[in-house]
Amino acid sequence: MKHPKIILGIDTSCDDTSVGVTHERRVLANIISSQDELHAPWGGVVPNLARRAHEANFPAVYAAALDQAGITETDIEAIAVTKGHGLAIALEVGIEQAKQLAHRLDKPLIAVHHSEGHFLANFAQDEAGARAPIDPEQVIFPALAILVAGGQTQLVQVNDFGHYEVIGETVDDAIGEAFDKGARLLGLGYPGGAELAQTAEQGNPQAFQLPRPMRQSGNLNVSYAGLKTALLRLVRELQAKAQANIDSQSEPAELSQTVIADLCASFQAAAVETLTYKVELALEQFGYQQVFLGGGVAANQLLKESLSEITKKHGAELIFPYTTQLCRDNAAMIAVTGWLKADENEFVTNLDELDRDPQWTLPS
Ligand code: KG4
Repeated sequence: MKHPKIILGIDTSCDDTSVGVTHERRVLANIISSQDELHAPWGGVVPNLARRAHEANFPAVYAAALDQAGITETDIEAIAVTKGHGLAIALEVGIEQAKQLAHRLDKPLIAVHHSEGHFLANFAQDEAGARAPIDPEQVIFPALAILVAGGQTQLVQVNDFGHYEVIGETVDDAIGEAFDKGARLLGLGYPGGAELAQTAEQGNPQAFQLPRPMRQSGNLNVSYAGLKTALLRLVRELQAKAQANIDSQSEPAELSQTVIADLCASFQAAAVETLTYKVELALEQFGYQQVFLGGGVAANQLLKESLSEITKKHGAELIFPYTTQLCRDNAAMIAVTGWLKADENEFVTNLDELDRDPQWTLPS
C-alpha cells in the first residue's frame, strides 16, 4: 500500500472532541472542542454526558478541521483513531465515526493508543515543517516518557517506537485529577489545574507542610489521594481558626486571598515534588539521556522547571511538544502516531472488528 501522507486523526477518549489533520507529521489542523463547561457543575467528567456531547459536536469539529487544513474529504489518505485507553462510551463515538469515514472514503484505518499519542506528539511539526523539538531518528533508546494528565500519571520506558514498559505510575489519583480536586476544595473553577497554578504564583510554597507520599516505597510509583485529603484537613482547620476569630452567628469564615494563594503554592509544590522525586530516581537507576513530557499537566510551569533542573543535573535532555495544545488531549497527536504506524503497515485489517479498549495497556 502507498504510504499515506494526509492523515485524519480522531480522539474522543475523555471529555474533548478532537479532530486533527497532518501531512506526515506537519500539523495542518488540530481542532479541540472542550466540554469543560458541561462537566463543571459535577466537578468531574460524567461519561454519558461526554458521549452525547461527542456525538453532537463531532460533525462541526470534523468540518472545522478540514477547513483549517485547507483540504476536502477526498484528500484524506488514512484515518487514525484512539482505540484506548479512555472512557468506553466516549471512545465508541470516535471509533464509530472513524469506521464510517473509512468505509465511505475507502481509506485505511489505524488504531492508536492514547498514551503513545502523547509521547509521539513530541515529533509533531508546525504547518511549515518547523518547531518540532526532536525528529524520530534522533531518539536515544531507551528513553523515558512522563505522562501527566487528568486521567493518568505514568513513567514509561520507551524501548523503541511501539515498545513500552510502564516503570512507575500512580496507585490512586492522577496528578491532573489531584490538581482539579485541590482547586475544587479551594473554590477555584473546573478543571482547576491551570487556575490553581496561576493562583500559586502569588503564594509561598513553604507556607504549609503537605505530604510527599511513597518516597520510601522502593519503587517508582506515586500517590496523590493522600495529598488531597491532607489539603482538605488543612482547609477545615484554617476555616475553624478563622471562624473562632469572628462572630459565631455569621456565615462560615472565608479564607483570605493570601491564605488561598499560599495553599495553592504549597499544594503545587507537593504535587510536583512527589513526581519529580521519582523521575530523579528513574534517571539515577536507568541513566536515560532523553525525557519526553506529555499530557495536560505538562502546561504546568513549575513541573517543567523542576524537570528541566533534574534532567540537566543528570546530563539528560527534557523534551516537550512545541505548543501546549499538543500536550493536552488532542487529535493531531493521534494523526502523527497514525502516520508513524502506517510506516510499519499497522492498519486495521477488519474494520467491523475494531472495538474500543478502555483499559488498553501500552504495547511492550
Ligand atoms: O491531558 P488532558 O487534556 O486530559 C485529561 O487527561 O483529562 O489534561 C487535562 C488536565 C486537567 O486535570 C487540568 O487541570 C490539567 O491537565 N492542567 C494543569 C495545568 N493545565 C492543565 N494542571 C496543573 N497546572 C497547569 N498549568
